[in-house]
Amino acid sequence: MAARSPATPAPMTRKSGEREGEMGVEMSPCYNLCMPTFTVRTPGAEYPCVVERGAIGQADLHLPPKSGKIFVVTTEDVWDLHGPKLRDALGKRAFHPLFFPGGEERKRIAEVEDLADQMLAQGADRSSLVVAFGGGIVGDLGGFLAAIFMRGVPVIQVPTTLLAQVDAAVGGKTGANLRGGKNLVGAFHQPRAVLIDPAVLTTLPEREYRAGLYEVLKTGIIRSRRLFEIMALDWRRVLALEPHVVDDIVAESVRIKAEVVSADEKEGDLRRILNFGHTIGHALEAETAYSRLLHGEAVSFGMRAATHLSLRLGALDAGTHGRIIECIGAYGPIPSLAGVRAEALVARLGSDKKTIQGRVHFVLAEGIGATRIVSGVDEEIVLEATARSLAELAPAA
Ligand SMILES: NC(=O)c1ccc[n+]([C@@H]2O[C@H](COP(=O)([O-])OP(=O)(O)OC[C@H]3O[C@@H](n4cnc5c(N)ncnc54)[C@H](O)[C@@H]3O)[C@@H](O)[C@H]2O)c1
Ligand SMILES: [Zn+2]
Repeated sequence: MAARSPATPAPMTRKSGEREGEMGVEMSPCYNLCMPTFTVRTPGAEYPCVVERGAIGQADLHLPPKSGKIFVVTTEDVWDLHGPKLRDALGKRAFHPLFFPGGEERKRIAEVEDLADQMLAQGADRSSLVVAFGGGIVGDLGGFLAAIFMRGVPVIQVPTTLLAQVDAAVGGKTGANLRGGKNLVGAFHQPRAVLIDPAVLTTLPEREYRAGLYEVLKTGIIRSRRLFEIMALDWRRVLALEPHVVDDIVAESVRIKAEVVSADEKEGDLRRILNFGHTIGHALEAETAYSRLLHGEAVSFGMRAATHLSLRLGALDAGTHGRIIECIGAYGPIPSLAGVRAEALVARLGSDKKTIQGRVHFVLAEGIGATRIVSGVDEEIVLEATARSLAELAPAA
């Protein structure tokens, strides 16, 4: 294990001499020198989430001394772009890249079985270790592979999309899709370490980057006023991928995810706050057959609706409501929702995976950084909030 400074989800370090951001938000000048490590502690595991430029190059520090062969599950695009950094880090150890074609339609048990067969053919045993090196799909599938190969081998998560860095790679949820829905099979399998290198985001397609930013914004809304203010005031720098700002928002998001998962590994009340915007977001993803929108884009729509709902149910004041809606808009646009009907979205709510015994739950914003979970909301009110969100995104006649 690396001898890095441990930090149970700790506050961001602030140094003297910090400069003011473009619109008054503070930023640290030493973004690549003193990035933090956040520790996730669950009943069965404890592991570091390192946020640092160059973190990929430290992968060898996190390998168990006696581990056997290392299997790097990845996609060819990520391997071509960033593989050399990992290859250098693992240089002295025996490792094999295992290529997965990528894509939501290939995130299936059949692919996991295929990867497991490849591992076996290349001499894997109980001492083997998996490195999941890619976006959230690789993280989920590689994590699942590690969870079930010979009833479980360790995994190191090395996420390379923004969404995977701030969300998917931290928390131990792994899995695959069924024909009947997304992520319906899987396992909790906490990684040995999560290595987050924000430098890899420069090669991410802009749309994928923006989709991840909506999850960052969600994290600010539910739990961090500071993060929200950066996202709201410094959006130009965020969109321009300025390293200081990117490192700051990634670290703050990881800090919060680590904190929430440490307090609640298996989605009790606290972890459910991470679903802000996801109730209607999931309905929109299903209604558009998982093909028109990226997950984060659907969540941005869901956050709009949840924000309108929060205002309507008296959880949020009009000023804060306006700021959240404006901030969501700053990271747009999302693809056209022409043809999507509010009634159809609301009709899907009861079948969401997160619905428990038929009760639809909504996470409401209570100002910035605070939430309330409600159920039993009048369907007419949900419909109204959903229709308002659709109307806002409709092209002007
Ligand atoms: N386990 C969890 O807690 C959790 C949480 C949220 C989402 N997820 C899952 O994550 C998945 C979505 O992940 P995603 O948004 O990262 O999509 P993705 O894994 O499909 O990655 C998006 C695309 O970007 C490419 N890519 C990755 N890194 C790149 C880089 N640095 N530069 C250029 N291209 C790069 C990938 O190859 C892919 O084509 C979904 O399946 C979702 O269910 C899981
Ligand atoms: Zn999400």
